[in-house]
Amino acid sequence: MTINKIDALKGFMPQHEGIALQKWSAIFSLHGSVVEIGTYGGKSSLYLASGAKKNDQIVFTIDHHYGSEEHQIDQEYFDESNYDKSLGRVNTVPLLQKNLSKVKEINNVIPLIGDANLVSRFWQMKIGLLFIDGSHTKKSAENDFNNWQEKIVSGGALVIHDIYENPEEGGQAPYEIFQLALKSGYELFDREDTIVCLKKLIG
Ligand SMILES: C[S@@+](CC[C@H](N)C(=O)[O-])C[C@H]1O[C@@H](n2cnc3c(N)ncnc32)[C@H](O)[C@@H]1O
Repeated sequence: MTINKIDALKGFMPQHEGIALQKWSAIFSLHGSVVEIGTYGGKSSLYLASGAKKNDQIVFTIDHHYGSEEHQIDQEYFDESNYDKSLGRVNTVPLLQKNLSKVKEINNVIPLIGDANLVSRFWQMKIGLLFIDGSHTKKSAENDFNNWQEKIVSGGALVIHDIYENPEEGGQAPYEIFQLALKSGYELFDREDTIVCLKKLIG
């Protein structure tokens, strides 16, 4: 079954949250395409794409593929198999290619290799669902929210990963942009564990 294939891939999306992504993508991709910031190996992209497929929609997933702060050497989530010695850096493109080829029936993921800040300057298309799962520093999370949220259609969704109310459980930047969204024309639509789905009321 496709869901089990996606669940078996290397990545940072547990199955229960992935199934929520699939469900929300099936609802909000009716309004337009899906954009993800933070591809890594494409695990969450595939959950989103399996939902978007129902509406014949595309998932554009953006990542520079250098990894986030926590993926670098000596950091908590460093993975040697993602380190390219010839480049002297983390490179998650090969992992993405491998993962996508393992779930061939999901063929509506379009990877964009680049910095989300730069891509946002040229992005013209309206977005049905935006998923923010990039770098979790305060500045990066704020940039992702400020650069991209205005491109979501009215009635579309903003989904944010890694929401921890308690600072002892996790970083606060995603939680802070969640709070900012609630003050900026979004209302909570649904939540699954650490992922929230907000609906845009104005646009
Ligand atoms: C937590 S991982 C994404 C996990 C992925 N969604 C999954 O389900 O496995 C965060 C990713 O964001 C990427 N990233 C960080 N800052 C970025 C930026 N400014 N532009 C594009 N990608 C960025 C990193 O390279 C990293 O792969």
